[in-house]
Amino acid sequence: MRTYLVTGGCGFIGSNFIHHMFRTYGDDIRIINVDALTYAGNPENLASVENLPNYTFVKADVCDKDAIRRVFAENDVDVVVHFAAESHVDRSILEPELFVRTNVLGTANMLNCAKEAWSLPDGPDPLGNYKPGKRFLHVSTDEVYGSLPDDPDAFFYETTPYAPHSPYSASKASSDFLVKAYMDTYHFPANITNCSNNYGPYQFPEKLIPLMINNALNGRKLPVYGDGMNVRDWLYVEDHCRAIDLVIHKAPLFETYNVGGHNEKRNIEIVKTIIEVLREELPDTDPRKANVSEDLITYVEDRKGHDRRYAIAPDKIRRDLGWEPETMFREGIRKTITWYFDHMDWMEHITNGAYMKYYEKMYGDRGAAESK
Ligand code: NAD
Ligand code: DAU
Repeated sequence: MRTYLVTGGCGFIGSNFIHHMFRTYGDDIRIINVDALTYAGNPENLASVENLPNYTFVKADVCDKDAIRRVFAENDVDVVVHFAAESHVDRSILEPELFVRTNVLGTANMLNCAKEAWSLPDGPDPLGNYKPGKRFLHVSTDEVYGSLPDDPDAFFYETTPYAPHSPYSASKASSDFLVKAYMDTYHFPANITNCSNNYGPYQFPEKLIPLMINNALNGRKLPVYGDGMNVRDWLYVEDHCRAIDLVIHKAPLFETYNVGGHNEKRNIEIVKTIIEVLREELPDTDPRKANVSEDLITYVEDRKGHDRRYAIAPDKIRRDLGWEPETMFREGIRKTITWYFDHMDWMEHITNGAYMKYYEKMYGDRGAAESK
């Protein structure tokens, strides 16, 4: 039975990944979820697995050396899947040091503790010898590559030089470099994945898609940054989870993979699609339906340093591991919207006082966009 240490498992992608793993491997695996339960970590995401005998939750900070050492000492961990991070670009602009702490120092600590636990004292490799079957997957982002021009032939490849712009992407780039340094310096058994924008169930409503769904259902304005023409490459979260599963089971060590579905959309297209699908899905008798219209769209002041376009070339993961995205965008948006309809209590629990304070701070005095 293999033991997986998942960090940040109570967040959006981490919880989807834990569900994916239990659905796929059932009793054949053990999962230890280490999460500090920040505002983004929600134990409700994992309520249906919390009593499984092969699931353990440890509330700990990835920066806490003693706590992480203890997890490795008490468990024979085979694979680390490192999701834990501060993940929201807008928050990184307000609080950059927190992102350096969690994303850079937290990753350094995870690497160090795994290396210490997995190292064999003697062996043929002067750089480092490890117990067999060990692997550290660092889950990263396409934002490390910076911004692409509005040219349909320009893509991010694994060889694209790093050029991060936001404190978030700079902290993720730094963490990627640390993982690369561990692989090069100590032959530490790791992989990195750089994925594009995810959407789907359990995403916190600070990110574009759940924020727009929640606002539209509540008849609130839909705040589109700048001219709404920025491009993101959207991937349904389950497709990302399948990619991670393939990498930890099939990929050669030390390789990096870009993950994305060739699904580029401008932000304004996304918002309009959400409005259309909401109107299709809401019954005529639902009083919320009358509120949902393009009249809610408001162009607001742009994000500072806003990257213009992201677009992943997923050729390597497709060629080497046979990965393909399975969920088409409109179907994925419909599934996501239906999920939020069925989990309005989940949304209500997390959009409590702290969320409203955040919303007020981020959007309260955000002026109108200069042009659109
Ligand atoms: P999220 O913000 O929804 O979840 C982050 C989780 O990490 C939360 O459960 C939180 O409690 C936990 N966490 C935060 N700080 C911690 C700490 N110091 N110690 C332990 N746990 C801590 O994030 P997400 O969107 O699920 O992203 C997960 C990972 O995937 C991140 O590393 C992110 O950079 C990467 N990623 C995200 C996307 C995306 O579109 N969301 C795309 C590509 C890569
Ligand atoms: O590309 C991968 C990255 O995608 C991940 O690494 C990050 O963790 C994740 O948050 C996401 O970053 P983005 O900044 O692209 O996602 P966000 O949902 O915040 O914004 C998507 C786009 O929508 C971006 O161009 C900004 C815009 N936007 C966002 C919000 C929240 C708006 O126009 N209005 C909004 O209210």
